[in-house]
Amino acid sequence: MSGELSPIDKAKFVAAKRAADYVEDGMRVGLGTGSTAAWLVRCLGEQVREGGLRFKGVPTSTRTADLAREVGIDVISLDEAKWLDLTIDGADEFDGSLNLIKGGGGALLQEKIVATASDQMVVIADIGKEVEHLGAFPLPIEVIPFGWQTTQALVEETLVSMDVLGRQSTLRMNGSRPFVTDEGNHILDLHLQRIGNPRQLSLVINQMPGVVENGLFIDICDAVVIGYGDGRVELRDINEGTVEQDRLDFLESDNLFTDLAD
Ligand code: 5RP
Repeated sequence: MSGELSPIDKAKFVAAKRAADYVEDGMRVGLGTGSTAAWLVRCLGEQVREGGLRFKGVPTSTRTADLAREVGIDVISLDEAKWLDLTIDGADEFDGSLNLIKGGGGALLQEKIVATASDQMVVIADIGKEVEHLGAFPLPIEVIPFGWQTTQALVEETLVSMDVLGRQSTLRMNGSRPFVTDEGNHILDLHLQRIGNPRQLSLVINQMPGVVENGLFIDICDAVVIGYGDGRVELRDINEGTVEQDRLDFLESDNLFTDLAD
């Protein structure tokens, strides 16, 4: 990515930069996946190299692991960390209760395991990710390759009795081949349009044979850092019931991606 950033990229950047303040020396920190999480990893890498920050990072995908190592973060596995102080990750949608849809980048399984094994999960997102009801963004579910079409048919049949508006699903592709996750599975994207009862849907989907995990994160996220294209950030903490406003100046020198190809 090079040149002037779009307002959405600036919003992602300021959210990530502000959320990086949550990381303290000695912490074990889950590192999310996606474009917003990549900003975070770059910001943290800069603080490690130039500010002397010392922490251990647990990545949620091979992509994030590669980037974290590249920028100088000390990477360990979840099994080495055992439990985390904090996870910071992006989201595809979040609602007023900080329930999420995740998995747009296909890393929902590791992301959910890592976030669940953390004292605190902080989501970083541009304001466009906030919704009144989850479901406009297709809900990803990770399924094992064996019999995936049968699993898909079963899922669609089950959706008939669920409080959703749409029931179609599509196999996620990577060019002409099915997308393959870090665990060797496939992703079905459920085009539900509106999810009336996310908690119930999550429980029902996860009971189906062939389904490994779904992208609904219910009662996992503790706080969200929302970025705006003009540099404003808003921090909402669901446990404390607090909302804080802040503003970050965006300098061209902050464009930590200028040296990277698109
Ligand atoms: C990856 C994810 C991402 O957090 C989500 O897709 C948001 O990505 P981005 O920050 O690029 O908008 O869940 O599996």
